[in-house]
Amino acid sequence: RKKVTMSTIKSLYQKGEPIAMITAHDFPSAYVADQNGMDIILVGDSLAMVALGMEDTNEVEVEDMLLHCRSVARAAKSAFTVGDLPMGSYEISPEQALATAIRFVKHGKAQSVKLEGGKEFAPTIRKITTAGIPVLAHIGLTPQRQNALGGFRVQGKTSAGAMRVLEDALAVQEAGAFAVVLEAVPAEVATLITQKLSIPTIGIGAGSGCSGQVLVQIDLTGNFPPGRFMPKFVKKFGDIWSESAKAVVAYRDEVKSKQFPAPEHTYPMPAEEFEADGA
Ligand code: KIV
Ligand code: NA
Repeated sequence: RKKVTMSTIKSLYQKGEPIAMITAHDFPSAYVADQNGMDIILVGDSLAMVALGMEDTNEVEVEDMLLHCRSVARAAKSAFTVGDLPMGSYEISPEQALATAIRFVKHGKAQSVKLEGGKEFAPTIRKITTAGIPVLAHIGLTPQRQNALGGFRVQGKTSAGAMRVLEDALAVQEAGAFAVVLEAVPAEVATLITQKLSIPTIGIGAGSGCSGQVLVQIDLTGNFPPGRFMPKFVKKFGDIWSESAKAVVAYRDEVKSKQFPAPEHTYPMPAEEFEADGA
Protein backbone atom coordinates (compact mmCIF):
# COMPACT_ATOMS: atom_id res chain seq x y z
CA ARG A 1 0.00 0.00 0.00
CA LYS A 2 1.17 3.49 -0.84
CA LYS A 3 2.19 5.90 1.90
CA VAL A 4 -0.76 7.87 3.22
CA THR A 5 0.01 11.58 2.99
CA MET A 6 -1.83 14.80 3.57
CA SER A 7 -3.14 14.59 0.01
CA THR A 8 -4.38 11.00 0.49
CA ILE A 9 -6.37 12.21 3.48
CA LYS A 10 -7.75 15.09 1.45
CA SER A 11 -8.80 12.77 -1.36
CA LEU A 12 -10.47 10.28 1.03
CA TYR A 13 -12.39 13.22 2.44
CA GLN A 14 -13.38 14.50 -0.99
CA LYS A 15 -14.54 11.03 -2.09
CA GLY A 16 -16.58 10.70 1.08
CA GLU A 17 -14.64 7.57 2.08
CA PRO A 18 -14.49 7.38 5.88
CA ILE A 19 -11.01 7.88 7.32
CA ALA A 20 -10.00 4.98 9.60
CA MET A 21 -7.80 6.04 12.49
CA ILE A 22 -6.55 4.02 15.47
CA THR A 23 -4.12 4.59 18.30
CA ALA A 24 -0.88 2.65 18.72
CA HIS A 25 1.70 2.86 21.45
CA ASP A 26 4.60 0.65 20.36
CA PHE A 27 6.07 -1.29 17.43
CA PRO A 28 3.69 -4.29 17.39
CA SER A 29 0.53 -2.24 17.93
CA ALA A 30 1.59 0.10 15.13
CA TYR A 31 2.58 -2.80 12.89
CA VAL A 32 -0.79 -4.53 13.11
CA ALA A 33 -2.57 -1.22 12.44
CA ASP A 34 -0.32 -0.33 9.53
CA GLN A 35 -0.58 -3.74 7.88
CA ASN A 36 -4.34 -3.84 8.16
CA GLY A 37 -5.48 -0.75 6.39
CA MET A 38 -5.45 2.03 8.95
CA ASP A 39 -5.16 5.43 7.27
CA ILE A 40 -3.91 7.26 10.35
CA ILE A 41 -2.10 6.04 13.46
CA LEU A 42 -2.25 8.26 16.54
CA VAL A 43 0.24 7.90 19.36
CA GLY A 44 -2.32 9.20 21.83
CA ASP A 45 -1.52 10.42 25.29
CA SER A 46 -3.91 7.62 26.28
CA LEU A 47 -0.51 5.88 26.26
CA ALA A 48 -0.42 7.01 29.91
CA MET A 49 -3.11 4.47 30.79
CA VAL A 50 -2.83 1.84 28.06
CA ALA A 51 0.93 1.32 28.22
CA LEU A 52 2.24 2.98 31.38
CA GLY A 53 -0.46 2.18 33.94
CA MET A 54 -1.02 5.81 34.93
CA GLU A 55 -4.30 7.14 36.31
CA ASP A 56 -4.95 9.64 33.55
CA THR A 57 -3.29 11.32 30.57
CA ASN A 58 -2.00 14.28 32.54
CA GLU A 59 0.90 12.36 34.06
CA VAL A 60 2.62 11.52 30.79
CA GLU A 61 5.76 13.47 29.81
CA VAL A 62 7.00 14.57 26.41
CA GLU A 63 9.99 12.19 26.74
CA ASP A 64 7.63 9.22 27.28
CA MET A 65 5.63 10.22 24.23
CA LEU A 66 8.74 10.58 22.08
CA LEU A 67 10.06 7.10 22.91
CA HIS A 68 6.73 5.56 21.95
CA CYS A 69 6.35 7.77 18.86
CA ARG A 70 9.72 6.51 17.57
CA SER A 71 8.69 2.89 18.12
CA VAL A 72 5.45 3.46 16.25
CA ALA A 73 7.24 5.28 13.41
CA ARG A 74 9.41 2.21 12.77
CA ALA A 75 6.29 0.17 11.97
CA ALA A 76 4.19 2.80 10.22
CA LYS A 77 5.24 2.15 6.64
CA SER A 78 2.03 3.39 5.04
CA ALA A 79 -0.18 4.96 7.70
CA PHE A 80 0.08 8.69 8.40
CA THR A 81 1.27 9.29 11.96
CA VAL A 82 0.13 11.78 14.57
CA GLY A 83 1.81 12.45 17.92
CA ASP A 84 -0.35 13.73 20.78
CA LEU A 85 1.04 16.77 22.60
CA PRO A 86 0.73 15.97 26.31
CA MET A 87 -0.70 18.28 28.93
CA GLY A 88 1.77 21.03 29.83
CA SER A 89 3.75 20.88 26.61
CA TYR A 90 1.85 23.40 24.49
CA GLU A 91 -0.54 25.59 26.53
CA ILE A 92 1.90 28.23 27.77
CA SER A 93 2.47 29.94 24.43
CA PRO A 94 2.40 29.27 20.70
CA GLU A 95 6.22 29.32 20.88
CA GLN A 96 6.27 26.57 23.50
CA ALA A 97 3.82 24.57 21.38
CA LEU A 98 5.92 24.93 18.25
CA ALA A 99 9.09 23.95 20.11
CA THR A 100 7.33 20.81 21.39
CA ALA A 101 5.87 20.02 17.95
CA ILE A 102 9.36 20.26 16.44
CA ARG A 103 10.64 17.74 19.01
CA PHE A 104 7.83 15.38 18.01
CA VAL A 105 8.90 15.58 14.38
CA LYS A 106 12.69 15.49 14.99
CA HIS A 107 12.91 13.02 17.88
CA GLY A 108 9.54 11.27 17.67
CA LYS A 109 9.54 10.89 13.87
CA ALA A 110 5.89 11.98 13.92
CA GLN A 111 4.41 13.35 10.71
CA SER A 112 1.98 15.63 12.51
CA VAL A 113 0.81 16.55 16.00
CA LYS A 114 -2.52 16.69 17.80
CA LEU A 115 -3.51 19.11 20.52
CA GLU A 116 -6.62 19.60 22.61
CA GLY A 117 -8.33 22.96 22.27
CA GLY A 118 -10.59 25.10 20.13
CA LYS A 119 -10.87 28.87 19.67
CA GLU A 120 -8.37 29.71 22.42
CA PHE A 121 -5.74 27.58 20.71
CA ALA A 122 -6.21 28.98 17.21
CA PRO A 123 -3.01 31.08 17.43
CA THR A 124 -1.14 27.99 18.64
CA ILE A 125 -2.41 25.89 15.73
CA ARG A 126 -1.53 28.71 13.35
CA LYS A 127 2.01 28.91 14.74
CA ILE A 128 2.65 25.18 14.32
CA THR A 129 1.10 24.84 10.87
CA THR A 130 3.01 27.89 9.63
CA ALA A 131 6.21 26.02 10.45
CA GLY A 132 5.08 23.19 8.17
CA ILE A 133 3.90 20.74 10.82
CA PRO A 134 0.35 19.54 10.19
CA VAL A 135 -1.98 19.85 13.19
CA LEU A 136 -4.93 17.66 14.10
CA ALA A 137 -7.18 19.59 16.47
CA HIS A 138 -9.21 17.88 19.23
CA ILE A 139 -12.40 19.49 20.56
CA GLY A 140 -15.59 18.53 22.37
CA LEU A 141 -14.53 16.42 25.34
CA THR A 142 -10.87 17.20 25.93
CA PRO A 143 -9.62 14.70 28.54
CA GLN A 144 -6.58 16.79 29.51
CA ARG A 145 -9.04 19.38 30.86
CA GLN A 146 -11.24 16.92 32.72
CA ASN A 147 -10.88 18.93 35.94
CA ALA A 148 -12.31 22.05 34.33
CA LEU A 149 -15.01 20.14 32.46
CA GLY A 150 -16.22 18.42 35.62
CA GLY A 151 -15.16 14.97 34.45
CA PHE A 152 -15.65 12.98 31.27
CA ARG A 153 -18.93 14.42 30.07
CA VAL A 154 -20.66 14.69 26.74
CA GLN A 155 -20.10 18.18 25.29
CA GLY A 156 -22.46 20.28 23.19
CA LYS A 157 -25.69 18.83 24.58
CA THR A 158 -27.46 22.20 24.84
CA SER A 159 -27.88 24.50 21.86
CA ALA A 160 -25.43 26.97 23.45
CA GLY A 161 -22.98 24.13 24.04
CA ALA A 162 -23.40 22.91 20.48
CA MET A 163 -22.70 26.44 19.20
CA ARG A 164 -19.48 26.54 21.22
CA VAL A 165 -18.28 23.27 19.71
CA LEU A 166 -19.17 24.53 16.23
CA GLU A 167 -17.28 27.79 16.88
CA ASP A 168 -14.27 25.79 18.04
CA ALA A 169 -14.43 23.65 14.90
CA LEU A 170 -14.58 26.69 12.63
CA ALA A 171 -11.74 28.38 14.53
CA VAL A 172 -9.36 25.42 14.30
CA GLN A 173 -10.15 25.03 10.60
CA GLU A 174 -9.44 28.72 10.05
CA ALA A 175 -6.17 28.35 11.97
CA GLY A 176 -4.99 25.67 9.55
CA ALA A 177 -5.77 22.33 11.25
CA PHE A 178 -5.88 19.55 8.62
CA ALA A 179 -8.68 17.74 10.48
CA VAL A 180 -10.43 17.86 13.83
CA VAL A 181 -11.23 15.15 16.35
CA LEU A 182 -14.73 15.50 17.83
CA GLU A 183 -14.92 13.62 21.11
CA ALA A 184 -18.16 12.84 22.96
CA VAL A 185 -20.61 15.16 21.24
CA PRO A 186 -24.15 14.27 20.20
CA ALA A 187 -24.34 12.76 16.71
CA GLU A 188 -26.60 15.55 15.44
CA VAL A 189 -24.06 18.18 16.48
CA ALA A 190 -21.12 16.27 14.95
CA THR A 191 -23.04 15.79 11.70
CA LEU A 192 -23.88 19.48 11.52
CA ILE A 193 -20.26 20.45 12.20
CA THR A 194 -19.08 17.99 9.54
CA GLN A 195 -21.44 19.61 7.04
CA LYS A 196 -20.23 23.12 7.93
CA LEU A 197 -16.52 22.34 7.69
CA SER A 198 -14.27 21.91 4.68
CA ILE A 199 -11.77 19.73 6.60
CA PRO A 200 -12.44 16.18 7.84
CA THR A 201 -13.97 15.52 11.24
CA ILE A 202 -12.74 12.40 13.04
CA GLY A 203 -15.30 11.18 15.54
CA ILE A 204 -14.91 9.34 18.81
CA GLY A 205 -18.27 9.13 20.49
CA ALA A 206 -19.63 11.49 17.85
CA GLY A 207 -21.80 9.26 15.69
CA SER A 208 -21.58 8.08 12.10
CA GLY A 209 -21.93 11.49 10.47
CA CYS A 210 -18.22 12.32 10.82
CA SER A 211 -15.64 12.08 8.02
CA GLY A 212 -13.77 9.38 9.92
CA GLN A 213 -13.54 7.50 13.20
CA VAL A 214 -10.88 6.92 15.83
CA LEU A 215 -10.72 4.47 18.74
CA VAL A 216 -8.06 3.47 21.24
CA GLN A 217 -6.54 0.23 19.99
CA ILE A 218 -6.62 -1.71 23.27
CA ASP A 219 -10.30 -0.83 23.65
CA LEU A 220 -11.37 -2.12 20.25
CA THR A 221 -9.20 -5.25 20.43
CA GLY A 222 -10.28 -5.98 24.01
CA ASN A 223 -6.69 -5.96 25.23
CA PHE A 224 -7.11 -4.39 28.66
CA PRO A 225 -7.33 -5.66 32.23
CA PRO A 226 -10.74 -6.07 33.87
CA GLY A 227 -12.01 -2.89 35.50
CA ARG A 228 -10.98 -0.43 32.80
CA PHE A 229 -13.76 2.13 32.38
CA MET A 230 -15.48 1.75 29.02
CA PRO A 231 -17.34 4.75 27.63
CA LYS A 232 -20.55 4.11 25.68
CA PHE A 233 -18.79 4.85 22.38
CA VAL A 234 -16.34 1.94 22.53
CA LYS A 235 -17.06 -1.23 20.61
CA LYS A 236 -14.98 -4.25 21.56
CA PHE A 237 -14.19 -5.97 18.26
CA GLY A 238 -11.95 -8.60 19.85
CA ASP A 239 -10.96 -10.22 23.13
CA ILE A 240 -7.18 -10.24 23.14
CA TRP A 241 -6.95 -10.02 26.94
CA SER A 242 -8.68 -13.34 27.50
CA GLU A 243 -6.58 -14.95 24.74
CA SER A 244 -3.41 -13.77 26.50
CA ALA A 245 -4.70 -14.90 29.88
CA LYS A 246 -5.55 -18.35 28.49
CA ALA A 247 -2.04 -18.71 27.06
CA VAL A 248 -0.39 -17.64 30.32
CA VAL A 249 -2.52 -20.08 32.35
CA ALA A 250 -1.70 -22.95 29.97
CA TYR A 251 2.01 -22.09 30.17
CA ARG A 252 1.96 -21.96 33.98
CA ASP A 253 0.15 -25.31 34.18
CA GLU A 254 2.67 -26.99 31.85
CA VAL A 255 5.64 -25.53 33.72
CA LYS A 256 4.25 -26.72 37.05
CA SER A 257 3.43 -30.20 35.67
CA LYS A 258 6.73 -30.40 33.74
CA GLN A 259 4.85 -31.00 30.45
CA PHE A 260 6.75 -28.02 29.11
CA PRO A 261 9.35 -28.00 27.66
CA ALA A 262 8.75 -31.18 25.64
CA PRO A 263 11.56 -32.88 23.66
CA GLU A 264 10.68 -30.83 20.55
CA HIS A 265 11.47 -27.62 22.46
CA THR A 266 14.75 -28.98 23.73
CA TYR A 267 18.30 -29.09 22.26
CA PRO A 268 19.80 -32.54 22.55
CA MET A 269 23.55 -32.86 22.93
CA PRO A 270 25.05 -34.34 19.70
CA ALA A 271 25.67 -38.06 20.35
CA GLU A 272 29.51 -38.00 19.97
CA GLU A 273 29.99 -35.03 22.26
CA PHE A 274 27.75 -36.56 24.84
CA GLU A 275 29.79 -39.74 24.83
CA ALA A 276 33.09 -37.83 24.90
CA ASP A 277 31.97 -35.70 27.87
CA GLY A 278 30.45 -38.65 29.67
CA ALA A 279 33.58 -40.81 29.29
O1 KIV B 1 -5.06 9.87 23.46
C1 KIV B 1 -5.85 9.32 22.67
O2 KIV B 1 -5.87 8.10 22.47
C2 KIV B 1 -6.77 10.20 21.93
C3 KIV B 1 -7.82 9.59 21.06
C4 KIV B 1 -8.80 8.83 21.83
C5 KIV B 1 -8.45 10.59 20.15
O3 KIV B 1 -6.68 11.39 22.07
NA1 NA C 1 -5.33 12.13 23.68
